[in-house]
This record gives sequence, C-alpha cells and structure tokens, in this order.
Amino acid sequence: MDDALRILEDELQSGLSRIRAATSLEELEAAQVAAIGRRSAYSEVQRSLGKMPDDERRVVGKRANEVRAELEAALAEVGLALDERAEAVSLEADRVDVSLPGRRLRAGSLHPLTITEYEIVDTFVSMGYRVAEGPEIETDWYNFTALNIPADHPARSMKDSLYVDIPGMLLRTETSAVQIHTMESQEPPVFIIAPGRVFRRETTDATHSPIFHQIEGLAVDEGITFSDLKGTLEAFAKAMFGQDLRVRMVPSYFPFVEPGAQVDVSCFKCGGRGCRVCGNGWIEILGAGMVHPAVLENVGYDSERYTGFAFGMGLERVAMLRYGIPDIRLFYEGDVRFLSQFGRVT
Ligand code: FA5
Repeated sequence: MDDALRILEDELQSGLSRIRAATSLEELEAAQVAAIGRRSAYSEVQRSLGKMPDDERRVVGKRANEVRAELEAALAEVGLALDERAEAVSLEADRVDVSLPGRRLRAGSLHPLTITEYEIVDTFVSMGYRVAEGPEIETDWYNFTALNIPADHPARSMKDSLYVDIPGMLLRTETSAVQIHTMESQEPPVFIIAPGRVFRRETTDATHSPIFHQIEGLAVDEGITFSDLKGTLEAFAKAMFGQDLRVRMVPSYFPFVEPGAQVDVSCFKCGGRGCRVCGNGWIEILGAGMVHPAVLENVGYDSERYTGFAFGMGLERVAMLRYGIPDIRLFYEGDVRFLSQFGRVT
C-alpha cells in the first residue's frame, strides 16, 4: 500500500510540474497523457486496486481520486490560461490599424477619343448646332448617289469600300451620309454635328485605320456664305487648339461641295515654322466646302433659295494633334498605361 501511495504522490508532483510548465495546448495534452493516460503509473495504480485488500483499497482509492481531481483541476486551469493567451495572440495578429491610409480605388477615365468628341460636340452645340446620327450600314443612295458621287467614282469600288452581303449596301465610308438623312427629314434651317464611325478598305499605318471616326458638320439656311464656313471653322479650331492658332483653306475637291477646301491649322508644336510633326508648318484637319446645289436638290431643297456649308473631320487626327499622340493604333489597343494618361472622369 505504501508503494502505491508513494507512486501516487510522485505522479502528482511530476504531473503538476509538467502541467504548469506547458507553454502550448500540445504540451498540455502530452502532460495529461503522461499523468493520467492509460499507460501512466497513475493508471497502473488504479488497475491494481482490484487486487488489494478492502481496507488498503479504500485508502489508496480515495487518494487516487484526490490526485486525479488535483491533476484535472491543474489541467483545466492551465488549459484556460493557454486558451486565453492563444486568443490574445490571434487578436493581436488581427489588429486593424485604423490610422493607416485606405487603399485607393482606381477610377476609370474616358477614352481620349471620347474626350475629344465631347469637346468638339460641346464647341458646336454652344454655337447652336444639334447632334444628329445615322446608321453605320448604308445604302448606295445615302453614301454615294445623293452626295453627288458619280457612278464611276473610285470610292465606290470594292477596293476602297467595304460591302456587306446585302446587295447595294455597304459600311458607310464617311459621315457625310448623315447630311442626307437629316436634310430628307427636315426643312432648313439645318445646323447639325454628326459624330460616328466610318469604314474604309485600307491598310493600317501610323495615321490610317480601316475603322475610324469622323465628325460631320452641316449648316443650311438662306444666305449662308463661304465666310460663314471660314469663321465657324476658325472659331472651332481656336477653341480646340488655342487662340494663337492660324487657319488656312486650300482648294480641294469633294463631289458634294463646290467650292471645296481642305482646312489646315498652324502646327501646335512649332507655331507654323515647320517641324518633325507638321513638315511645313501646317496640319490638315478636315475637308469642307459649300454644299453642292445638286445635293440640295437631291433632298428636295430649293437650291436657289438655300445655301449651306459642310465639313468633315477625322476625330483620331484631331485627338492626335491635341495630345501629341504619334500613332493612331494606340487608340485601339486598350493599353491602360496609355489610357490612364487622359484624366477626365465624367
Ligand atoms: C471625307 O471623308 C469627306 N466626307 C469630308 C468632307 C465633309 C468634305 C463635308 C467636304 C464636306 P476625307 O476622306 O478627306 O474626306 O476624310 C476626312 C478626314 O478623315 C481626313 O481629313 C482625316 O482627318 C480623316 N481620315 C481619312 N482617312 C482616315 C483613315 N484611314 N484613318 C484615320 N483618319 C482618316
């Protein structure tokens, strides 16, 4: 009996010191197995109780229960402390530093072509023009015939235009087609600006794309003259490129205007002295002219009573000039490094 009691005392002391020394829940579990597990000296004493005489069994059994209670109390106490410590460590790890600056969400910005289109449209809307639209797939009438483009004109050939599977229909090659739709649907006065996509069968290079954007302008009323056209385009060019800019008109030919002109602006880069961007000091931005009387008659207007002017500019070319963009392909690649340089968000 004395042996059994001694074993219990030893096991109590060594168990308690191992339990108290535990620094993690794993170590505590190991201490529990060593102290009261199935293969512990304590369990052996318990198993031997059955073979002891009654009076010994009572003494040893009672002490064994006390030892177990003491060990379990220590296990519970240390377990709780370790749990609390683990909780504190994890809370510390999850601590949020409310003083840290937040992560900035990157707002997208408008595409440079959209920004340029809005600016051009705004300029003309402030002069009293309204925005008009037309379809991207056109009939021969709107794209060519009504615009006084003769049947044998090279622009009509499959080499220059993109035809669709429906006979007589093609992807519009210029926004001038919108002139016809507008004039067919209303009487003068007409003051419209028509932005849109156009399509041509050509190869891509730094300044040409088979799909690009144009902005068409059309003004028809009584008494409209070439100087109205010049004044309007000068006002536009100055609003777009700055007050110091000079505008010149060079004679040019388009079947739907007479006379026709190409409009050049003095180079934004060198001020007109001549540089790598412009060559001779001037940059072509658009085609323009007085609406041909045949076009007015084609839509049922009295060409004796009404006169008008029209112009068509390439949106990409204007944006390239405005921002100094060297290659038209940059507009279509969707490269965020390029696009994010144009800040306007609305
Ligand atoms: C026309 O398309 C005429 N409809 C313009 C016009 C309208 C003249 C009204 C008179 C009256 P043109 O083919 O030159 O003209 O094109 C007009 C502008 O579109 C050019 O000045 C140029 O800025 C742009 N452009 C032409 N081809 C391309 C292309 N492949 N890629 C990008 N821009 C182009």
